[in-house]
Amino acid sequence: MIRLPGLIDPHVHVREPGQTHKEDWDTVTQSALAGGVTMLLAMPNTKPPIFDESTLNLALDAAKAKARCDYGQYLGAGPDNAAEVARLAPRSAALKMYLDSTFGQLRLDDMTLWLEHFRQWPGETPIVTHSESRSMAAALWMAQMFDKPIHIAHISLREEVLLIKAAKEHGVKVTCEVCPHHLFLDLVGAQQCCAPTPGRVEVRPRLATKADVDALWANLDVIDCFATDHAPHTLAEKDGENPPPGFPGVETMLPLLLTAVSEGRLTVEQIVEKAVTNPRRIFKLPEQPETWVEVDEKARYEIKAAEMHSRCGWTPFEGWKVKGKVIKVVLRGETAFENGKILVKPGFGQNVRA
Ligand code: DOR
Ligand code: ZN
Repeated sequence: MIRLPGLIDPHVHVREPGQTHKEDWDTVTQSALAGGVTMLLAMPNTKPPIFDESTLNLALDAAKAKARCDYGQYLGAGPDNAAEVARLAPRSAALKMYLDSTFGQLRLDDMTLWLEHFRQWPGETPIVTHSESRSMAAALWMAQMFDKPIHIAHISLREEVLLIKAAKEHGVKVTCEVCPHHLFLDLVGAQQCCAPTPGRVEVRPRLATKADVDALWANLDVIDCFATDHAPHTLAEKDGENPPPGFPGVETMLPLLLTAVSEGRLTVEQIVEKAVTNPRRIFKLPEQPETWVEVDEKARYEIKAAEMHSRCGWTPFEGWKVKGKVIKVVLRGETAFENGKILVKPGFGQNVRA
């Protein structure tokens, strides 16, 4: 048995308010605890999006009533809310800017709209961008121009990790994260192994090539955080017409990473660095006293959506054989999860910015 600190997932789509048929604050935080995640940061592309004081209150009220693990809530960058989100910054996890193909209404295409956010965001926490390839380069340049910290969400490409490496070497205040699905799946492989319907491989950023996946593994030292981009959509939606992009992932991250440890591709120290220490530093998150995760690093089991806690009812890793199981999670002195059972009530979770 090994003991890890509680994991921090800085990239989770909770779906509440507005799309609780996919997930809500209760189910997502159960899924998090079962995956050894004791703190999550919730993305703002809900319905309505979280982009001003009243929508922030809407999300935080739901979280306060229902969350079973600790949480923060992102604000979304819109076309005309730069001053408002800057004012609300202390109550938020950070600012999220959608600059490329995504799910929801928050995408900003006109680069002059990005400028106002880079100018006004206070910069105590980073501006987190969904920016791929060349829009990532443009966002890096804007961060450098305004001397603001930027965190690149879910990198997936060789050119992205190498550009970030160069930017770090030149003193740009950039950090980045990678998702398990971009480390463990490439598009062709996933189409063969894990996709009974085309919708099951739809995710943004898209799954990439084997060469991209290899480059991410080869440059893990450039990557600051592991983040799941847990993006639940129901099985009926994924297998229907116009399947929305996104994979659930908050419950499968740790077993997948522990399996990589057992294969000698990763160390436990790297898991702690990228899933606890670095996200805590980058997002200025509080310590969680008396909080830990007990894992049986030798236990082998098969990933099954039917045994997981997300409302979405599927996983791209169905049937994968993993080695490393979460046995027990203690959060602020309370046993929150043990032997497959959630033991804390809705409302036990605390807002990290309260
Ligand atoms: O695959 C994705 N799903 N990419 C995004 O940018 C959004 C996310 C979602 O909210 O479903
Ligand atoms: Zn996301």
